[in-house]
Amino acid sequence: MEIFTLPLTLILILCIITFTQSAPMFLGKYAKKPNKLSYKYETKHFTQRLDHFSFHDSGSFSQRFLINTNNWVGAKRKGPIFMYCGNEGDIEWFASNSGFLWDIAPRFGAMLLFPEHRYYGESMPYGSKEEAYKDKNTLSYLTAEQAIADYSVLLRELKRNFSAEGCPVVLFGGSYGGMLAAWMRLKYPHLTVGALASSAPILQFEDIVPPETFYNIVSNNFRRESTSCFNTIKESLDMLQSMGENADGLKQLAKTFHLCGELKTAQDLSDWLSSAYSYLAMVNYPYPSDFLMSLPGHPIREVCRRMDSAADGTSVLDRIFNGVSVYYNYSGGVDCFELDDDPHGMSGWQWQACTEMVMPMSSDPDQSMFPTFNFNHTYEQDRCMSLYGVKPRGSWITTEFGGHDFKTTWKNSGSNIIFANGLLDPWSGGSVLQNVSESLVALVTEEGAHHLDLRASTPNDPDWLVQQRTSEIRLIKGWIDDYNQETSSAFVM
Ligand SMILES: *[C@@H]1O[C@H](CO)[C@@H](O)[C@H](O)[C@H]1NC(C)=O
Ligand SMILES: *[C@@H]1O[C@H](CO)[C@@H](O)[C@H](O)[C@H]1NC(C)=O
Ligand SMILES: *[C@@H]1O[C@H](CO)[C@@H](O)[C@H](O)[C@H]1NC(C)=O
Ligand SMILES: *[C@@H]1O[C@H](CO)[C@@H](O)[C@H](O)[C@H]1NC(C)=O
Repeated sequence: MEIFTLPLTLILILCIITFTQSAPMFLGKYAKKPNKLSYKYETKHFTQRLDHFSFHDSGSFSQRFLINTNNWVGAKRKGPIFMYCGNEGDIEWFASNSGFLWDIAPRFGAMLLFPEHRYYGESMPYGSKEEAYKDKNTLSYLTAEQAIADYSVLLRELKRNFSAEGCPVVLFGGSYGGMLAAWMRLKYPHLTVGALASSAPILQFEDIVPPETFYNIVSNNFRRESTSCFNTIKESLDMLQSMGENADGLKQLAKTFHLCGELKTAQDLSDWLSSAYSYLAMVNYPYPSDFLMSLPGHPIREVCRRMDSAADGTSVLDRIFNGVSVYYNYSGGVDCFELDDDPHGMSGWQWQACTEMVMPMSSDPDQSMFPTFNFNHTYEQDRCMSLYGVKPRGSWITTEFGGHDFKTTWKNSGSNIIFANGLLDPWSGGSVLQNVSESLVALVTEEGAHHLDLRASTPNDPDWLVQQRTSEIRLIKGWIDDYNQETSSAFVM
């Protein structure tokens, strides 16, 4: 028997009147374990300081990184180093899902480097996940700044080892990894020549973008397929709230949705459905994929088809069940659904969201299919206080990396970053969708979803995707050529 456990964003303190969903998480943590890898690399370890920002000795940990030098043309020929900034998960999974780097390494003669993010995968401080995640003291070194510092320190040592100080480094990353790539390029411009930040919502902080963007984009993914599908979902989410008010209603819901156990609150089910809709929008890819789940091409089209094509008289909730089964049970191998896979919410991303990664999200039912939900800082503070004993600092990221008035500030202080986004991706609303300068470039695709460009090319790639990757390759080549020209003319002088 296979019991499916879901990618749920958890809320511990459920509030019955409001829609209490928290921000969806990125891809990664919930994804399938890496398949037998088709890409070959060596796995190495590097000792990192636990705290890069103090001189007090807080100890060290072993950071895992994957490296492939098969295509590298060597230090003498200034072979580039392509570094993927590991995100919130096992680095092997990101390496095997970032086929773009593997595809282009030969033509660039590039070395590939995949460092793992601290506190994820095997790169655990204090020797084990259990110890590392023990409390706020042990978790306090889990920050984006520390992760970027890890990558920078590793890069310098690695270059020294290969006598490759003169080799240009290009950063890559998707989602949170894309945020890290962009931020690292902005913070450590002397170590890199550029960054490809794919689907990186670096503006989803404080009040830079409207908090409704995420759920509006999710909703539009459904509305563009069919209005009735959008309306069915909207209606069902309202119905759940009223059915949840009595025990019979909850029993009925558990049965309708083939849950393994009993349903404690309607909110649990509502969150489960809402996360399916959000993830579906992220992976609304034009061909079948196996990224988060096995899914057909245009999965939202399929969800809506199953909702809309049910026989006349089929109830709203049965239609919803038919639809979400595309997401949770496309393979057909799931016997019953388990809503609650991580009751303590003690994942690394939860900690990050409770400290610096505060991404305000709301839902406005006039524009979205989700019930009213207003991001509430007090509520978040209480939640994080009870989870970890910490208060989120919502304005820290914008203080550290900027974001307000990015068009003028980054234009002056930054260069050579590609912000690649697909407009179907709900995270695109929090990313850079306009060209900021000659070299801070936005590549936007109407039909793209969450960092499809970073995946391996396939015969099914639509033209717009091929073009997007071609533009990326052209820009990256430009950065490397510029660097080589500048450094060689410096030699001549
Ligand atoms: C650099 O080389 C030293 C000596 O061989 C080795 O101990 C260290 O792990 C290497 N560092 C990296 C980042 O490969
Ligand atoms: C999953 O799909 C299979 C095949 O359609 C079906 O027999 C099974 O009941 C479904 N599981 C759930 C939990 O609905
Ligand atoms: C925000 O959350 C706090 C704590 O849960 C609650 O007391 C308050 O009423 C909420 N504010 C709004 C506007 O919903
Ligand atoms: C940004 O400029 C590039 C050319 O460098 C162009 O291909 C792209 O379409 C522009 N992006 C936007 C969003 O206008």
